Amino acid sequence: MKVLFVCLGNICRSPTAEAVFKARAAKAGLTIESDSAGTATWHIGSRPDPRSQKAGEARGYSFAGLSAREVKIADFAAFDYILAMDRQNLQNLEMLCPPEHKSKLGLLLEFAPDENVSEVPDPYYGGPDGFENVVDLIEAASDGLIAHISAA
Ligand code: 4NP
Repeated sequence: MKVLFVCLGNICRSPTAEAVFKARAAKAGLTIESDSAGTATWHIGSRPDPRSQKAGEARGYSFAGLSAREVKIADFAAFDYILAMDRQNLQNLEMLCPPEHKSKLGLLLEFAPDENVSEVPDPYYGGPDGFENVVDLIEAASDGLIAHISAA
């Protein structure tokens, strides 16, 4: 089982999702490979945003070894779930994805318990609260995704 988390820059939301999901899946005793990527090219090779690292590390998550990369066509065959943080990025993925892999695409928050929130908002231009909110939403959705994968 392999999961790819996708946002725009691959420096805030999707590396946070990768770090949080890895830790929580391991705690649940599951071996699920995960990775993250961006649909934009600006930050390729960059480490996760220091504000994301600060918010995540404060809750015990590790961002060691992560650096930004762009989504590539081979990802659509290689991963079982390819989950976007918001609709803009889901649309970007839908345009790139070969038809036979489209069923793998979705929004991460489809696995979250709160049905009123479907997107992880981009925190890049905002304050620290936005980065805390990203971790909150991703923790809840990661547990939902872990439960979904273990049940399947
Ligand atoms: P991310 O956040 O998509 O969660 O990594 C962003 C990072 C950078 C930019 C936008 C969003 N940017 O405009 O550079």
